[in-house]
Amino acid sequence: LLVLFLVLTLVACGNKQEGEKKSEPIVIKFSHVVAETTPKGQAALKFKELAEQKTGGKVKVEVYPSSQLFGDKEELEALIANNVQFIAPSVTKLVGLNPQFQIVDIPFLFKSEEAALKFYQGPEGQKLLKSLEDKGIIGLAWWPNGAKHFTNSKRPLRRPEDFKGLKFRTQSGGVLEEQFKLLGAGSQTIPFGEVYTALQNKTVDGQENTFNNIDTQKYAEVQKYLTVSGHGRLDYVVLTNKTFWDSLPEDIKKALEEALAEATEYEIKLSTELNQKSMENLKKSGKLEFYYLTPQDREAFIKVFEPLYKKYEPIIGKEIMDAARNAE
Ligand code: LMR
Repeated sequence: LLVLFLVLTLVACGNKQEGEKKSEPIVIKFSHVVAETTPKGQAALKFKELAEQKTGGKVKVEVYPSSQLFGDKEELEALIANNVQFIAPSVTKLVGLNPQFQIVDIPFLFKSEEAALKFYQGPEGQKLLKSLEDKGIIGLAWWPNGAKHFTNSKRPLRRPEDFKGLKFRTQSGGVLEEQFKLLGAGSQTIPFGEVYTALQNKTVDGQENTFNNIDTQKYAEVQKYLTVSGHGRLDYVVLTNKTFWDSLPEDIKKALEEALAEATEYEIKLSTELNQKSMENLKKSGKLEFYYLTPQDREAFIKVFEPLYKKYEPIIGKEIMDAARNAE
């Protein structure tokens, strides 16, 4: 009788464990480098809410903001190793995997916010999104943030010659390095999480970013001048690990795709709103002196950047450059 009791207990325990295993949710770690209050930070949280709701709790999304889990460089390596399942890096940071992503950095290329969105949703943008599959990465969505503007601590930047001798932080890649070189300035690639300190310690004099990143990172505390240039873009791609994605059951994948589509719509609206709000905050703070490029200033910059357009057209591809240039 004792043996029978032991056998029954063991079987019951086994069944219980099996049952527990089945009900364990699939965990998605979603890591990013910006504050929670940014378009990317808010959209990641929206995705979490919708993904958990649409899968009835079968998926749990853990969002790690502000480089808490991984910084710029580590997050890509972590994604490839499946130590994190979702990231949404700035497009520029993919230059090592595909230099064509530097399309966002080509100065004064996109006509407007809408033009960038059209490009991403069009055939060339969609091709780019799919271009990392042989590296084990699936591009799921574009999350635009906005145009970049220059800040620095030394002097107002109105014309190309004002940049001479200054040093700027860059995200990564040859286009940004070349951009500053052509302006007679130096540059250094610094991970996002270390930029405030680099500006504070004067490792670099300036940087380029969206209004919202400038605002939420409190760069006005360590910078004096802001040039509203809108010269390049800072947008994101939502990436997942291919092995992880392919392993998901079809119904889960579908629910996650729906959640992401809704989170993307939310992000697009929010990015415009939050950048506008941040611009107003920065102005109101009175800590930064604003300068708006005139059409003549803009022409002067475009002329200086001519060698850059020539050098990078074959690297990025004429079709991609034309699609970006002509999008409205
Ligand atoms: C930066 O490094 O300046 C940005 O890419 C950070 C971000 O993710 O917005």
